[in-house]
Amino acid sequence: MKSTGDTIQLYKEIMGSYPTGVTIVTTADPQGEPVGLTVNSFTSVSIDPLLVLWCLDHRSGSFQAFQRSQGFAVHVLAAEQEAACWAFAGKETDRFSKIDWRWSEHQLPIISGSFGLLQCKTVQKVEAGDHTIFIGEVVDLDRDEKKDPMLYYRRNVGAIPPDWKA
Ligand SMILES: Cc1cc2nc3c(=O)[nH]c(=O)nc-3n(C[C@H](O)[C@H](O)[C@H](O)COP(=O)(O)O)c2cc1C
Repeated sequence: MKSTGDTIQLYKEIMGSYPTGVTIVTTADPQGEPVGLTVNSFTSVSIDPLLVLWCLDHRSGSFQAFQRSQGFAVHVLAAEQEAACWAFAGKETDRFSKIDWRWSEHQLPIISGSFGLLQCKTVQKVEAGDHTIFIGEVVDLDRDEKKDPMLYYRRNVGAIPPDWKA
């Protein structure tokens, strides 16, 4: 289908109303500096082997860093990480100076306080329109049972309603 102004707007409205979780995906750039951005295109792909994917806009400032990297870390954000969610979706370049983070044994930047963490080795990159799909094999994973994941809907973020926690 040809992308016209009207269809792009309708597409954005439909996709923006599709509720998701929120992640921050990080890696190291060729200079060894941490880079990362807020991502909700993340999804699971395969159980055997454990594969995940996410989509990166070609206009992203971190595009070259992810293209050149060997892997990435997916942080499934906790409900209370709203500040990090917006900081990693904005124009700021010194995002890591405002949060608590460390290097992992896989040389990936790890942000503290997330609900879930999946460290991945990049196994495939697929060009798809104005995005690249990164497919990663999970090499390490962790979860904080005391936290709840963040939900995203129409530029709002929030916690899981209490009556969903059966
Ligand atoms: C909830 C949410 C989800 C997002 N998901 C994606 C995504 O899946 N892929 C993407 O490339 N950008 C996504 N973005 C936009 C980037 O986070 C944003 O453009 C960011 O500033 C890019 O940073 P960079 O240019 O430093 O890489 C999302 C933003 C928000 C708020």
